[in-house]
Amino acid sequence: MKRIEFHNREKETKEIMAILDSEPSLIMFVYGPINSGKTTLITHLIEELPDEYVVFYVNLRGKFISNYDNFVRALFKLDREKKEYKEILKTISEVSLKSLKFTGIPVTEGVMDLFFREKTYEDVFEFLEDYFTEIAENKIPVLIVDELQKIGDVRINTYLVYELFNLFVRLTKELHLCHVFAVTSDSLFVERVYSEAMLSGRCDYLLVDDFDENATAAFLEEHGFTDDEMKVAWECCGGKPVCLLELIRADDPERKIAKLLRLRTGELKTFLKTLNELGGKITVNDERHEINYELIIDVLKMFLDEEEIDMWSIDEISKRYLVKNNILFIDPDMGIIKPQSRLDLLAIREVMGDAYQLWKPKKTAAATRLSSKSQSRSMTV
Ligand SMILES: Nc1ncnc2c1ncn2[C@@H]1O[C@H](COP(=O)(O)OP(=O)(O)O)[C@@H](O)[C@H]1O
Ligand SMILES: [Mg+2]
Repeated sequence: MKRIEFHNREKETKEIMAILDSEPSLIMFVYGPINSGKTTLITHLIEELPDEYVVFYVNLRGKFISNYDNFVRALFKLDREKKEYKEILKTISEVSLKSLKFTGIPVTEGVMDLFFREKTYEDVFEFLEDYFTEIAENKIPVLIVDELQKIGDVRINTYLVYELFNLFVRLTKELHLCHVFAVTSDSLFVERVYSEAMLSGRCDYLLVDDFDENATAAFLEEHGFTDDEMKVAWECCGGKPVCLLELIRADDPERKIAKLLRLRTGELKTFLKTLNELGGKITVNDERHEINYELIIDVLKMFLDEEEIDMWSIDEISKRYLVKNNILFIDPDMGIIKPQSRLDLLAIREVMGDAYQLWKPKKTAAATRLSSKSQSRSMTV
């Protein structure tokens, strides 16, 4: 299989390097649509950092976190060789050592045991504050938590994520000890953070979107695409890196594009058919809400003529449902909503266009009952 080199990202790299060059003062939220290249950008940057930085990268992807113990396991990494945690700190802070990168925050068995015995977040967060304070004497610590939304709904007495935000605020705005990057593809989570009073003035946002047209053209050109092929690729896949990779690896890119579009269109039809026949629900602030099929269709139809819409122009329940199902993406910083990818936009247009009248799923009696029920509910709101 062809090996694909890291491509471009000059603008975002510059922005992140400018942050790393200055004193830590804000939590940086790195957000963007699914598969836009956030993790790739961050991991590439980690590799390139100068010697004075020590990076702790924690990826919550694939981790199941529902309680204190899983959280501690996800955050820390056991270093069995060292007996004393001060020994670990000493090694990390060694000025002569080159830049260090850790996956997870290394601690000794003794510290881990203590966490499991004490079982309080205060202990863990106090420990981390001391840990980073000590490292910051000689080096610049950088803490990166990828897929932070995984703990967005974890509640143990209070929401865990707020406890973590408190620590992040301490490390950045208050003590200026450590750079903190929180990475996420979950735009509902970012929207929540955006409107969170406790973080106002204490964080900033960096959008890592799909490649723009120039970056896409340069990427494809490097891999031998002709002008015509590049045009078709941009028209159908936009600058979504994973999608472009599939085209680069394909023997026949145009056939591949047709296949990707067919697949996404089929998925969208199945999604709508299921919603129409079986109904759908979403929980918002502990309350279950029924999805109104007609309102969902109205939202999707807005994309027949527009590529992005005002995020306040659609009803809240449909918005959340379409975002949760990875069809739409919210950018709370710009105040817009758009499909997760160019392929999604084309699939929406295909399904909502003229073809919709021909294909339109027939309603079952149950679906009719459901949608009229939720419609009357939405009218009373
Ligand atoms: N700058 C890039 N150069 C080359 N390939 C990339 C780049 N960014 C992303 N990719 C490819 O796209 C895939 C998805 O990117 P990823 O970083 O996992 O997305 P995200 O974290 O935003 O969901 C990666 O596995 C990688 O193969
Ligand atoms: Mg990622």
